[in-house]
This record gives sequence, C-alpha cells and structure tokens, in this order.
Amino acid sequence: MSNVVDRATFWFLYAGKAPWDIGKPQAPFVAVANLVVSPVLDAGCGSGENALFFAARGHRVTGIDFLKKPIRRARVKADERGLSAHFIVKDALRLRAWDERFASVIDCGLFHVFSDDDRRCYVEGLSGVLAPGGRLFLMCFSDEEPAGKGPRRVSRQELLDAFAEGFEVDLIEPSRFEVNTESMDFAFSDGGPKAWFAIFRRKGRVGH
Ligand SMILES: C[S@@+](CC[C@H](N)C(=O)[O-])C[C@H]1O[C@@H](n2cnc3c(N)ncnc32)[C@H](O)[C@@H]1O
Repeated sequence: MSNVVDRATFWFLYAGKAPWDIGKPQAPFVAVANLVVSPVLDAGCGSGENALFFAARGHRVTGIDFLKKPIRRARVKADERGLSAHFIVKDALRLRAWDERFASVIDCGLFHVFSDDDRRCYVEGLSGVLAPGGRLFLMCFSDEEPAGKGPRRVSRQELLDAFAEGFEVDLIEPSRFEVNTESMDFAFSDGGPKAWFAIFRRKGRVGH
C-alpha cells in the first residue's frame, strides 16, 4: 500500500530535518488546550513539542514513540525547559497489553502512517488506554492534499469508519499542518499540507 510510513523511513527522516519537527505544537492542539485533561498520552510524540506544550500547562503527560532518537530529544528538551514529562520508547501498536489509562490522547501525525490493519490494531489499543468519557485529539493528512510524498491521505469517511465503534465524534474539521521549511525534500500545498483535526470521545460512563 502506498504512503504507509515504516520505521526505516522515520529513522532516516530523524537523521535530518523532519518536516513535522517545527519546534512548537501544531496550532489546532493549542486552540483546544482547554478541553485537554490529565493524564495525557501523546502517541507517536516524536521530539515532544505537543507533549511539552501540555506539560507546560501543568498536565501529567506521557509521550511514546517507537524510535529512541526522538525520545532522547524530547527528554533533553524537557530538561532544558525545566518541564516534567514522561517519555518512553513504546510501539503504539502494542497498546492493548498496557494497563495505563489516560483521560486525553494526542495523536499528531500518527494515525495517517498506518496500513488498514495497523489502523484497526491501533484504534483497538486506544479503546483500552482511553478512559470512558476521555477524548482523542487527532490530526492527520486529508484527502484534499494532492497525492505525493508523505503519509497516507485520509478521508473524513475513513475517520468515521475507523472510530465507528466505541467512540462518539465531537469534531472533524479541515485544518493545515505547519511544516519545517528547512525540510526541502517534500512539496506540499501552499499554506501547509491539508489536514483533518478531529476529536473523538470514548463512549462509556466517566469513572468506569
Ligand atoms: C509525523 S511524526 C509526528 C511526530 C510528533 N507527533 C509531532 O507532531 O511532531 C510521527 C511519529 O510517529 C512515530 N511512530 C510511527 N509509528 C509508530 C508506532 N507504531 N509507535 C509509536 N510511534 C510511532 C514516528 O517515529 C514519528 O515520531
């Protein structure tokens, strides 16, 4: 399947200027910051800008990424900024066996890297780690972004289908990723890759 991004590609991209590494959180997460409650999981946290934004707001934050390099960078940033956040090397496709529970999950650019099978596995894992009533905040490439390099383009319907069981849809709206302008290997739409920003709420009674 085209545009599924594998571990080797991420490893290669972290050796240079990764296009998503912009040194600050993506704007849609800042815009909904008041909806985010602790504890917070940032799945596929990369070098931690979104996680550290929420840590700076006083949240208890755990960031996971399957590569050591971005996790090391995230830990260094946390130290340099005097912030407390827990960054661990962990595969987001292995959430099912995890006994941690979170009230909020951040996914900034992870869902769109997965194959159809991995999507199902990931969403099943999320259903386990997201507490009933908790919210998933997700940003992914949209099918409005022309085909080309980068991750899979995702349609609104694909998002609805992926989270049809066990989740309510609070929001799916068009958005734009901000990308690192020093990363010249990618050509995206002027104004940044077209994206969806979505909020899904885990069904079930809070506290159960
Ligand atoms: C597009 S980057 C976004 C990074 C970060 N969320 C950000 O916004 O800067 C996707 C990240 O997901 C990580 N990733 C990809 N597959 C993963 C998996 N199965 N488990 C955990 N992390 C994964 C990559 O290493 C990469 O850091």
